[in-house]
Amino acid sequence: MSQILDGKRIRDEILAGLAPRIAALPRKPGLVVVLVGDNPASQVYVGSKVKTCLELGMHSEKITPPAGISTEALLDLIATLNARAEIDGILVQMPLPKHIDSEKVLDAIAPEKDVDGFHPVNVGNLSIGRPGPRPCTPSGVMELLKRYGIETAGKHAVVVGRSDIVGKPMAMLLLHANATVTICHSRTKDLEAECRRADILVGAIGRPAMLTKAHMKPGAVMIDVGINELKDRAQVVAIFGEDSEKTKAFDKRGSVLVGDMHPYDAAELSSYWTPVPGGVGPLTIAQLMANTVESAERRQR
Ligand code: GUN
Repeated sequence: MSQILDGKRIRDEILAGLAPRIAALPRKPGLVVVLVGDNPASQVYVGSKVKTCLELGMHSEKITPPAGISTEALLDLIATLNARAEIDGILVQMPLPKHIDSEKVLDAIAPEKDVDGFHPVNVGNLSIGRPGPRPCTPSGVMELLKRYGIETAGKHAVVVGRSDIVGKPMAMLLLHANATVTICHSRTKDLEAECRRADILVGAIGRPAMLTKAHMKPGAVMIDVGINELKDRAQVVAIFGEDSEKTKAFDKRGSVLVGDMHPYDAAELSSYWTPVPGGVGPLTIAQLMANTVESAERRQR
């Protein structure tokens, strides 16, 4: 029998654990989210980040420079935020418009306020196992595994995807938790065979339902980080079939969310699996809140 890993339940547990820590601080933790331009998906993510802050009684600001802002003007904004004592966390929503130098922007955020864990100093801290903020989505996955009592030591974990935001830090966190880790990517030979060796399979490639039965060892833990919005009915039917629940949902709403794993295959073959939506997604924001509270604690100590 396969068991669902309920990300919303774990999110609520994480947030409930933060409330007394926030109450114990002399000053509210403060998070600033910078959203450049008007990417609709980013607007949704940023909206829920700000909302969660307010529900927790934290200070939160959303700054929305126009899409045409220059790299220099954005660097000036970040310098201002670095200097503000009441701000503990700065998050610049990715991706940025093409004309902006994203590397310069990420490097400009003070490492102690980098609640995404994207600054090279924090990437280095993660790599050598020193304390510091960890990227939110992979640390949410680790929290999910821990709170469900899923053992990682000695297990073979296969991470599909090598992004700086998810794949690489995910592999590093699993390694620190004593898993044997393989990272796969678009040039991996015989991806199916590599994935079938996984006791813990993590999908982080951004391709709808790409990982199927052929990639899954029966009894493995399946962690699906992908969030792909399908707006083309033919594609939904090609993946799920005409009579499926997903196709019915599409006909009602005009789009459906699909992870990187085929959900019916994952549900059938796994010991534990994360649904999309409702699995990994809710944990990203919870870990962002946790990183912000930790930063506030460190800075107010
Ligand atoms: N875009 C997609 N995921 C993330 C994230 O975790 N942080 C930031 N800053 N941008 C993102």
